[in-house]
Amino acid sequence: MEIRSPELKQSGLFINGKWLESERQYRVLNPASRQTITFVHSAGFNQTVDAIESAEIAFKTWKKHTAKERATIVQRWGELMLTHKEALAELLTQEQGKPIAEARIEVEYAASFLEWFAEEAKRAYGDIIPSFKPNARVMVTKEPIGVVGAITPWNFPLAMITRKAGPAIAAGCTVVLKPSEETPLSANALAVLAEKAGIPAGVLNIVSGDAPEIGRALMESSSVRKISFTGSTAVGKLLARQASNTLKKLSLELGGNAPFIVFEDADIDQAVKGAINSKFRNTGQTCISVNRFYIHDDVYQEFTQKLAQAVSQLNVGNGLDESSKLGPLINEQSLAKSHQHVTDAISKGATVLTGGKPHSLGLNFYEPTVLSDATESMLIAVEETFGPVAACFRFSNEEDVLIRANDTNTGLAGYFYSRDYSRIWRVCEALEVGMVGINDGSISTESIPFGGVKESGLGREGSKYGIEDYLEIKYSLFGGLDYSPPL
Ligand code: SIN
Repeated sequence: MEIRSPELKQSGLFINGKWLESERQYRVLNPASRQTITFVHSAGFNQTVDAIESAEIAFKTWKKHTAKERATIVQRWGELMLTHKEALAELLTQEQGKPIAEARIEVEYAASFLEWFAEEAKRAYGDIIPSFKPNARVMVTKEPIGVVGAITPWNFPLAMITRKAGPAIAAGCTVVLKPSEETPLSANALAVLAEKAGIPAGVLNIVSGDAPEIGRALMESSSVRKISFTGSTAVGKLLARQASNTLKKLSLELGGNAPFIVFEDADIDQAVKGAINSKFRNTGQTCISVNRFYIHDDVYQEFTQKLAQAVSQLNVGNGLDESSKLGPLINEQSLAKSHQHVTDAISKGATVLTGGKPHSLGLNFYEPTVLSDATESMLIAVEETFGPVAACFRFSNEEDVLIRANDTNTGLAGYFYSRDYSRIWRVCEALEVGMVGINDGSISTESIPFGGVKESGLGREGSKYGIEDYLEIKYSLFGGLDYSPPL
């Protein structure tokens, strides 16, 4: 399928405002057909060093623009995304697979980070602190941290970029972006729009291809002062170790294993709706997707039956087909993992209420699945599935379910349904996660602090807190002031 705005479809490396070619190229596949969409030029160590140098040079002037000037350009970047919403959504669905309706929502979500951080950059206030000496004044200012290395995933190919590059560029930093090799075309389309919006050469650079070599160049460089990464906990830990050599600031948004608790006093229909939204968004390929459903004995039958009924109605198909509610998984490994979790659970006593196998469409399509009688001995209890499989566990008391919900190294998001006011406060405070959805399964937007505790990462993205990760605090003591009036 041809895309609406062909100028958005770029296959080069974007360094210092130019589209460059390299000797090697890699293939980008459509996960719905496993057919080649195009080939993209592959960056390695040397090209990444060039991109870092270009970002370093651009930083010297970009940081001197007023906050308002930077904000105007970043705001325009977001507006251009909305003007090109349909073309961006189609490109995104082609390379990532999500249903076109979800892709349109992602374009809006991604653009909202640009609007938000354009506004926030104008409010990067400092402080005047009461002086601790006579004849002196104490000032605190915030300054952009410098060159930022942003490493982004394939599951939200636009929004995860703007959630990092938006605050970085608005704050006065410059960026070397390494998007996922599964979805480089959406990233490149963003660069085309960034340039149109007036973002100067070198402020945003994009390299993808040889991930270990790109990573090595970013991590070894002492000019790169910050790394912002969204992806697996294993890679996040590796980056944290590598960052220690040059003491880079780190933002890590890593894996989760979200619990979703339905108490006996919950509104079951509302809980089923929330379960569908939080589990099956992006075919379950979301860091905050539910991984473990804990349902009270008294409502277990009702909830699981209603969930299975609703899930069996979800239409699976090519994301470009408007009637599809679920697209394919990103690749064969992802499909294999979902199926492994299902077969492991069945072999240990789980019952399939709906789905349970690869979809008859073949390729990367998997049936949306609901399993009952899940237990802690199953893989699905401890590993993030990142697929359309809802595993339902039983519980009988609050204390026990909280121990089980918190029994994981990760702590990104958690959800629960209850109508008991005191329980709502108790459980909200007891859940060891960075984000809680209470009687609601859709928690993401630009104005909230997105991030986790434990091994789910460091720092927060979005919200008024998100820009702080791209700023350094400078304290200045103005000493030796002469307060006697001139004669
Ligand atoms: C993610 O999966 O990492 C992001 C999901 C979101 O922003 O809602």
